[in-house]
Amino acid sequence: MKVLIVGGGGREHALAWAVVRSEKVSKVYVAPGNGGTAMMGGKVENVPLPAADIEGLLRFAVNEQIDLTIVGPEQPLEAGIVDAFRDAGRKVFGPTKQAAQLETSKVFAKEFMRRNGIPTASYEVFRDYGTAKEFLEQTSVFPQVIKASGLAAGKGVIVAETCDDAVDAIDDLFEKRIFGEAADEVVIESFLKGEEASVFVVTDGADYLFFLPSQDHKRVGEGDTGKNTGGMGAYAPAPLVSGEVLKKVEERIVVPTLEGMRKEGMPYTGFLYIGLMIENGEPSVVEYNARLGDPEAQVVLPLLESDLISVLEASLEGTLNEVSFDMKAGAATTVVLASEGYPGSYEKGREISIGQELEEMDNVMLFHAGTSFDGRKLVTSGGRVLSVTAVASSLKRSIDLAYRAVGYVEFEGVYYRRDIGAKALS
Ligand code: AMP
Ligand code: GLY
Repeated sequence: MKVLIVGGGGREHALAWAVVRSEKVSKVYVAPGNGGTAMMGGKVENVPLPAADIEGLLRFAVNEQIDLTIVGPEQPLEAGIVDAFRDAGRKVFGPTKQAAQLETSKVFAKEFMRRNGIPTASYEVFRDYGTAKEFLEQTSVFPQVIKASGLAAGKGVIVAETCDDAVDAIDDLFEKRIFGEAADEVVIESFLKGEEASVFVVTDGADYLFFLPSQDHKRVGEGDTGKNTGGMGAYAPAPLVSGEVLKKVEERIVVPTLEGMRKEGMPYTGFLYIGLMIENGEPSVVEYNARLGDPEAQVVLPLLESDLISVLEASLEGTLNEVSFDMKAGAATTVVLASEGYPGSYEKGREISIGQELEEMDNVMLFHAGTSFDGRKLVTSGGRVLSVTAVASSLKRSIDLAYRAVGYVEFEGVYYRRDIGAKALS
């Protein structure tokens, strides 16, 4: 079968890596892909169509008789790519525009959780500066967490330690409009203590399967300091999510979420990302995403033993409970190599060299994100450039192996955290 993967980040490279291993697959197109998917060769080919070009992607899928389209990022989901493909009778894996609101509208997600009794931080919704400011000035409890309701590339959340910081934040959102209409509505919620983890399921709307729980490293600096980023590294499985915690996540979050979405007439299909805060073994939802995480996909996909394509097909056919979904023993770690300056401004176009030693290492995968390849030279083209994943028999070994591999990648201004996974060892 022919598969189209929509997107061009590390997550989509990891999806392509997983999909191309399937015996069922004869061809994998990635739109637009990146330097890494360009260099995979064999069955894998990039298509120069942006992920936002839904009409173009649909035309391509029809012309090339694509059997299955997998949507990586959230923007095309918000723009209704799944609805458009389904309407045209094409198989597509992901949530509809309506169901994707679990990610694309934080107001929707919070109200949904409140209606369905799903544990999450208490909150209020605001639509203007004055009312929000009044609320903040009457609050004595800080930090407060201020969130633009719409998509803001992971940057729309401000943890305000003081009332002044909080008022600055709502000024940025409502008055300076730094996120435009994504902040027409703003959620202000209470601060949750604890530790974060990510749990992903594959679901057909009723049945579901769990990937191994993982943990991202969102801050740019070591020891979880500095600015928030898209994610600087991840590992799986996350020991924080014990069997007992996962059971609570299933009973209190996954089941009521899928049931609620069905009852409300918008069954959720696709990958569902549940961002958790866990305190003393009690999970609550920090956010939903309508997709796999990036860089978490770069650790959970390499740990999947079963054939991903069979699982996605089963999901589309409503036979998820008949398919095997086995994970490898051991653990995986991924270290993101970023351009110096990220998540602020950074240089692009720097040549990347990858040592032969790395290519020869077993159980090491190099997933590209912000790279481009012109047939000759591989250069940086984004903030998060590459993600080096290692799979090993233990977390400690996977961390050591990942960092050994990192040593064979060079480009001017390379920056990475040296403490990915360290939290889980201590
Ligand atoms: P979100 O985009 O909603 O995941 O928020 C981004 C990050 O902000 C999360 O990964 C958390 O680190 C932090 N965050 C969001 N909401 C809360 C909350 N209610 N309490 C504490 N931290 C939060
Ligand atoms: N790594 C966080 C995300 O994908 O949203």
